[in-house]
Amino acid sequence: MTPEAQYAKLRQSGHDRRVASRLWSFMRPHRRLITTGLLLLLVTSACRLIAPFLVKIAIDDHIEPGNLDGFPRLMMLFVAVSAAELLLRKLQMYTVDKAGQNALFDLRVALFSHMQKLSMRFFDRNKTGVLVGRVTTDIEALQELFSSGVVTILGDAVFLVSTLVILFWQNWQLTLVSLVIVPFLLLTTSLIRKRVRSAYEAMRSRISQMNGFLHENVTGMALIQIFRREELARSEFQPINDAVEESQLGAMKLETILSAAVELLGSLTTALILWYGGGVVLETLGADASELGVGSGLTIGALFLFVDYMGKFFRPLSDLSQKYTVLQNALTAGDRVFRLMDETDLVPEPSGDAVLPPTRGEIEFRDVTFRYDDGEAALSNMSWRLERGQSLAIVGDTGAGKTTVLKLLTRLYHLEEGGILLDGLDIREYPSRELRRRVGVVLQDVFLFNGTILENIRLGHPEITNERAAEIADRLHLGELFNRFPLGYNQLVTERGKNLSSGEKQLISFARVLATEPEILVMDEATSNVDTHTEALLQEAMRALMEDRTSIIIAHRLSTIQNVDRILVLRKGELAEEGTHEELMAQGGIYRRLFDLQGLTAV
Ligand SMILES: Nc1ncnc2c1ncn2[C@@H]1O[C@H](COP(=O)(O)OP(=O)(O)OP(=O)(O)O)[C@@H](O)[C@H]1O
Ligand SMILES: [Mg+2]
Repeated sequence: MTPEAQYAKLRQSGHDRRVASRLWSFMRPHRRLITTGLLLLLVTSACRLIAPFLVKIAIDDHIEPGNLDGFPRLMMLFVAVSAAELLLRKLQMYTVDKAGQNALFDLRVALFSHMQKLSMRFFDRNKTGVLVGRVTTDIEALQELFSSGVVTILGDAVFLVSTLVILFWQNWQLTLVSLVIVPFLLLTTSLIRKRVRSAYEAMRSRISQMNGFLHENVTGMALIQIFRREELARSEFQPINDAVEESQLGAMKLETILSAAVELLGSLTTALILWYGGGVVLETLGADASELGVGSGLTIGALFLFVDYMGKFFRPLSDLSQKYTVLQNALTAGDRVFRLMDETDLVPEPSGDAVLPPTRGEIEFRDVTFRYDDGEAALSNMSWRLERGQSLAIVGDTGAGKTTVLKLLTRLYHLEEGGILLDGLDIREYPSRELRRRVGVVLQDVFLFNGTILENIRLGHPEITNERAAEIADRLHLGELFNRFPLGYNQLVTERGKNLSSGEKQLISFARVLATEPEILVMDEATSNVDTHTEALLQEAMRALMEDRTSIIIAHRLSTIQNVDRILVLRKGELAEEGTHEELMAQGGIYRRLFDLQGLTAV
């Protein structure tokens, strides 16, 4: 079943009502604005009805009998009512829009903060683009509820019903004649609208396809240029672009046909009214007033009223189906948004306040087995222990599970089999913020945010001052690297650090962790991108910082880890060897082989 069909099915089961009531829970805080908007709506609808009626009075009571007594006052009233309608309508739109924007603002905040709680497992399973779309495109679809005036459906309904009542009261036969075209209007609009809707759906999906393509190709521009794929990328872009143009033109064509059809049917109605109503007017003018029953005669002014009202009758009627579509889109989007809000793939937080042990910095892995999804175990039956102040290195092939150890230790993923203990307490008992305060991590993939170098070191922690961040940076000898910038550490880092080298970025992420002064320091390939000279400086600084601090170094290059207290060698998720550098060398196993392969000489 396609997702659309699934939604359609869900909708039948009272689903729409639930989505709507959840939406309402976001609107409720702004209900005063909404009520004001609705009241204004009623007043504007009334003004819309009254203005033509004033013209009718002008024609029948003043112009036709040639009586200009009170005529200027009537016209002033007409201008006042028309102006009031215009003004109040704008005010009403503003009020409803404001209520909507406020509610959607709250919804976006709620959605974003819920996403921040979700586990990495969730982000592995879901595409970034789709998730971003929830907060942008889907909320935009909800926004249309307000901006396209679905809310005014109520006003439209009031207007349509009142129009009919007034017209019937004026002349019921002519009213029936005027309505002859309405079934054709409804049929035509609903037929064309259906096609317009699918045309727009196609357009949206093609545009999102184009966005995806562009995103990938702009981010990967360096590769495209290096591998001379420009021509190829362009030729891949062309059909996508063509499809977008085609669907856009298709939708526009249908819209044009629709509005032309509505106008044509409107003109036909006017013609009908004039033809039939004109006859009645002539009859009425020639007859004695007493011969005519209520609702059968017709004055010229009333004829005008018919033409005017019916002209205004068609637009809201043909808009109804469009507004229904907007409503459906909004409910679908709302459904997607609330599903994300209901997503429960969280790393569970401990309940109650467990008494946390004093920080010492001991780590123990007990029989840890972990799989990312249902596939092979990334770690199996892993047990090891690290005492306070000790240093540990983890080595192993690519894909052996080194980074996985780190992700479990910081609870980016929830561990189900076995246990990890920090200072004797299972890490599942720690609130994750507390755990992450104790365990500082330098990640393998460096990520820099927009902001200055110092801001990237501080990462918004109020307790880290600029002076402190600069001091840490100095200790890592970053000053020598960044004094080339006129602003030094206050240099802005452009998007993801495009203006910095990989090594420089790595050093910043290193400083970032040290600034938080964690009890335990975990570095994933922290020095893989720096030159030998910088590495020597860095090692020097690291040694000072690692003193008295439990630390774990995940490394490919064995040269950097010969001084650690213990080394773990992982192989395919299992702990294959364990010991000091000397012990492992003497053992002559995997470590020894790796060491020889890297052409190192033992110290
Ligand atoms: N998010 C993920 N989803 C699914 N599988 C993953 C995920 N991350 C890692 N894996 C798999 O788990 C295994 C261990 O990965 P891990 O990142 O721990 O390796 P590693 O030892 O750090 O490798 P490297 O030296 O290349 O950094 C690999 O087989 C990898 O394909
Ligand atoms: Mg790794």
